[in-house]
Amino acid sequence: MSKADLDWKSLPFGYVKTDCNIRFTWRDGSWSEGVLSADETISIHIAATCLHYGQECFEGLKAYEQKNGEVVVFRIEENARRIVRSCEKIFMEPPSEEMFIDAVFRVINANRRFVPPYGQGASLYIRPLVIGSGPQVGVKPAEEYTFLIFVSPVGPYFKSGFKPVNLVVEEEYDRAAPNGVGDVKVGGNYAAGLRASLRAKEAGFTEVLYLDAREKMYLDESGPANFFGITRNGQYVTPASESILPSITNDSLIKLAGEMGLEPVRRPIPVEEIFDFVDAGCCGTAAVITPVGSITYRDRKVSYVTGDVPGEYCTRLYEKLTGIQLGLEKDTRGWIRKVPTE
Ligand code: PLP
Ligand code: COI
Repeated sequence: MSKADLDWKSLPFGYVKTDCNIRFTWRDGSWSEGVLSADETISIHIAATCLHYGQECFEGLKAYEQKNGEVVVFRIEENARRIVRSCEKIFMEPPSEEMFIDAVFRVINANRRFVPPYGQGASLYIRPLVIGSGPQVGVKPAEEYTFLIFVSPVGPYFKSGFKPVNLVVEEEYDRAAPNGVGDVKVGGNYAAGLRASLRAKEAGFTEVLYLDAREKMYLDESGPANFFGITRNGQYVTPASESILPSITNDSLIKLAGEMGLEPVRRPIPVEEIFDFVDAGCCGTAAVITPVGSITYRDRKVSYVTGDVPGEYCTRLYEKLTGIQLGLEKDTRGWIRKVPTE
């Protein structure tokens, strides 16, 4: 089948209409069979719990066309596990891990012509979503759920691609509370982050770097991605925090950093340590690895790069990670799974 007629190289991180999405409904104790639909809209009860009480969670993963033409996904089992945790935390009915993986494969197969060709710097972003679609007026879990997945060919999340971004430490607003829901992928966390993010953008920064909400002393994460720094003594450090999303990309980098001779350490990171790093980055499915060019904290700014050139460690980690995803590096850990053709 020939590819869709798109300008693959200049795709933004945004929505592109594809051939179809897939939907399931949970009602009376079981999930329906998945239905592929070309409809870009859903019809929903006006009292659905997702609309009123935030019963909603999502996932984000990517399909890549490798050099040999195979279409693959990266660590899909981890996304399957995480959506179950997200659902359970806000009392929604989760899809089983097997159902999740099968649904992702079906929707990719139905949209194969939208998987960006190898070498264009683009991928097929997969966005699974679970919502409470049944009505409630009192605050309680819905009795009906909808699980759907749409896909969209995308380019880099940060417009500049693999180019340094400028972060500002956010001291006033919190994204998530300790013992709250910051460690799962629920929509409310992103709504809560809009104020800080928009304010930072207006002030000329790319994104914010949140601090822990309890003490405002330790680094948490950025709005759409985890954070890591490289210390002078060769450690890959990344925040241990109960209010950040456990990033699958970060978990992968921790393993790759070890292989590269860095010592991976997950621990609380006092904000003042930003002034000692030799390199830093944001990481996530959408952000991949985005080198951090500078961080501004109060009236001080620290820079990790000269001009527009990403730091050495970010570059090596980026090449290693994307090399595995694109099939240029050996996948020794079973992270890559080929999308089976039906
Ligand atoms: N942190 C937040 C808040 C995110 O939304 C994401 C994206 O999923 C990440 C971190 C990175 O997680 P992952 O690497 O699993 O995509
Ligand atoms: C992802 O990286 O998949 C995310 O969901 C981040 C989102 C803010 C785009």
